[in-house]
Amino acid sequence: MTDAFAAPQAQQPFDHEAQRSGLAQFIAERTLRLLTKSGAIAEQGQVFNQPIFYAWQREDRLVLVFNPLLLKNPEAVLSARFRHHLSTVLGGRAVVPTNTRGVFLQVGYWPAPPIDLTARPLNLREQPDPFCVPIGITAKGSLWLSIFKMDSVLVGGSRRMGKTRLLHGWIQALHHGGQTRLYLWDGKPNCAEFRGYSGQPKITVIGERDLMTGLTEVSNLMRDRAQLLAHAGVADFHSYNAKSAVKLEPIVLVVDEVAAISLLPDAEQILRAIEDLISRGGAFGIYPVLATQRPSATAVRGISKTNLSTRIALPVPSHTDSQIILERVGAEKLAKIQGRLAIVWDAKLIEAQAFTVDLPSSDEVGLDRAPDKRSDGQPQPSTVPDDVCALATRCWTENGGKFTEAWLTAIGWGQKEARREQGRWADQGWIFQNPRASRAWCVSPSLRRTLTLGTLSDEPDEPNRRDEPDGPDEPPSQA
Ligand SMILES: Nc1ncnc2c1ncn2[C@@H]1O[C@H](COP(=O)(O)OP(=O)(O)OP(=O)(O)O)[C@@H](O)[C@H]1O
Ligand SMILES: [Mg+2]
Repeated sequence: MTDAFAAPQAQQPFDHEAQRSGLAQFIAERTLRLLTKSGAIAEQGQVFNQPIFYAWQREDRLVLVFNPLLLKNPEAVLSARFRHHLSTVLGGRAVVPTNTRGVFLQVGYWPAPPIDLTARPLNLREQPDPFCVPIGITAKGSLWLSIFKMDSVLVGGSRRMGKTRLLHGWIQALHHGGQTRLYLWDGKPNCAEFRGYSGQPKITVIGERDLMTGLTEVSNLMRDRAQLLAHAGVADFHSYNAKSAVKLEPIVLVVDEVAAISLLPDAEQILRAIEDLISRGGAFGIYPVLATQRPSATAVRGISKTNLSTRIALPVPSHTDSQIILERVGAEKLAKIQGRLAIVWDAKLIEAQAFTVDLPSSDEVGLDRAPDKRSDGQPQPSTVPDDVCALATRCWTENGGKFTEAWLTAIGWGQKEARREQGRWADQGWIFQNPRASRAWCVSPSLRRTLTLGTLSDEPDEPNRRDEPDGPDEPPSQA
């Protein structure tokens, strides 16, 4: 130890104590030398020969506890510049300054290991919560981000660098989470990229030419949710879910190959719908994810990128491309490796290597038709909007499944709205006039099957349950 710092006894015994003491000595001496060389020590510190800092040995790091009175300018020691110099003279060891209850520098005993961004296979068991999607391996380990925090996303990058593969990872993670509804459009004939997900619960694969149909469905959900939230007196999706026993599911709309939209006859209308979902969807739990090679292409220019909160770039040729995708330079410096990406997160540019992802088996399925229609014209169970499910669940639990005007008004609907809603539900086949409940409008068996029956089937509603035919729904007869 030099005479300018003191090393109190280690707080706790640990393995390799001698080695750590040696490293503590090395770190302390180098730090003191840099402090002296950079003129950071106040005169009296040298004159009175007092310790400038104490070196406190912790398990994985050394904490230098400074006497601020002996520093000429404590701020200088805490600055990024001093930290950088110190890290350099300490052979790349991590240095973390803190200034909460005193001036501290924390220094790792060992230099940070070299960054290993080798691609690793996606492991869905690492998903931190059902709404997180995998970004990849970063210098600090695996990075997963919540779709709620990312809000709306733009993924850009040169041809064949791994944009769609990244999206596959996200789709698989959200599907694994099981609590998110997904709408997928890949812009390829016969849905070449995403058709392997067709038929999976909560996933709608939108046909190449049916993007507007799919967007209309999502926009209708947004409208229905707006109404539901207004009735519940809450401002957004999260407040609704915090208050309501029946939760709404987030909806993620994945649009790959955005530039291909311009080839569609209804491109203008589609771009307007996407723009609307980007700007208003977040409040209603709807999160658009757009991917494209060229964000400068005409179609993408039609969408105001300013509302896309999260930006991810795979390697691009020039800083102009990086600027367009990330609104900052950096992506042009990425190694031209498939799956290498840069994401702007918490105002920092983070580099990552996306996980490798297996593709789902894609059996040949004809998807060039609207995916939401059955041949018999009935809505598929999976396409019943969440808010309809939520209201039907409530109706089942609170009113024995009777979707009456009286009940709707009792829970806060206006009479006119209640009548309109009843008409809409009847048109959709979600309710039928039950002869055994005095022809009252009741939740149809097909809608009830889409609800969470585990909890609902225990609900007492014997008259209705006895009436349910096992076969096809009883068609609603108009009164
Ligand atoms: N994370 C990754 N790790 C290793 N290889 C990858 C990764 N991502 C993609 N690849 C490889 O790169 C190829 C192209 O990936 P992908 O189709 O996702 O690129 P893209 O950017 O969507 O291309 P395009 O611009 O043509 O749509 C894949 O077939 C795969 O072999
Ligand atoms: Mg692609």
